[in-house]
Amino acid sequence: MTQGSDTTSGAGLYDAGKSTQHLGYDKSSRIIAIANQKGGVGKTTTTINLATALAAVGRKVLVVDIDSQGNASTGFGIPPSDRRQTSYDLLAGDTTVTPMPTMVPGLFLIPATVDLAGAEIELISTSGRQEKLKRALGDIAGDFDLVLIDCPPALGMLTLNALVAADEVLVPLQCEFFALEGLSLLLSTIERVREAYNPDLKVSGIVLTMYDGRNRLSREVVADVRKVMGEKVYRTMIPRNVRVSEAPSYGKPVMLHAFQSAGAQAYVHLAGEMLRREAAAARPAPMQGAA
Ligand SMILES: Nc1ncnc2c1ncn2[C@@H]1O[C@H](COP(=O)(O)OP(=O)(O)OP(=O)(O)O)[C@@H](O)[C@H]1O
Ligand SMILES: [Mg+2]
Repeated sequence: MTQGSDTTSGAGLYDAGKSTQHLGYDKSSRIIAIANQKGGVGKTTTTINLATALAAVGRKVLVVDIDSQGNASTGFGIPPSDRRQTSYDLLAGDTTVTPMPTMVPGLFLIPATVDLAGAEIELISTSGRQEKLKRALGDIAGDFDLVLIDCPPALGMLTLNALVAADEVLVPLQCEFFALEGLSLLLSTIERVREAYNPDLKVSGIVLTMYDGRNRLSREVVADVRKVMGEKVYRTMIPRNVRVSEAPSYGKPVMLHAFQSAGAQAYVHLAGEMLRREAAAARPAPMQGAA
């Protein structure tokens, strides 16, 4: 079986079943997959802290942890023993899954446990395998303004489910030398998902993480990424900040751990920028020829 190569390149998974009908359902919530097949680029950190900043300004937010590492669940201080209904159950078709509250008012979570590692294999032999999350979220997402899906570091069946369920992809990109290399694979994968399953899927933005302004390479990577990706790149950059990295060990988002820190403030700004973009996109375009 070529599963090993599938999970890294996405080959096969993303082309199969092109005839699948598009499952539209009535909803006003934004479903955002936080994805990058590269490990350790800040997906989970961005999910936790962006979700917290959005909840802090009154949005009702759901985080769906679909990484068997369960880091987003740990980051909210929820130990494995308290993860009773999980994203594994959701993908297995359990319709009773109810998001659990977190310490952040207005922020709910569907956690993950190691069980999810098996789901990747189990899904392969299931019909409609790429739509399990979309179907399951259809009944839940409507209760939220925003749903953020924390993806695992692979382009396997779990990430495919997130990309099929999502309206948008937010890509965290670490300010390091190979940043752009991984990006082109991710963008071509998103394009294939768009063609095969989810025509409305768009890349809503790229967020630069672990930026260190004292480091020349970091500055060069930022310049390169902005040149190639233009307006897609959020102006807000997340600095490398020790408060951000230590917050999960306290089981808290950095905003609750060290609100004044540069890292916490950056995520507050990122949420603000995201909501300003949302408001600008919702405004009617000016009429052509208007003075
Ligand atoms: N702005 C930051 N400053 C300092 N450390 C950070 C920052 N963002 C993330 N980190 C640290 O970098 C590591 C990787 O971050 P994170 O877990 O968010 O990445 P990820 O993309 O979700 O990883 P994986 O691919 O394993 O799921 C973690 O130890 C995290 O605490
Ligand atoms: Mg992660």
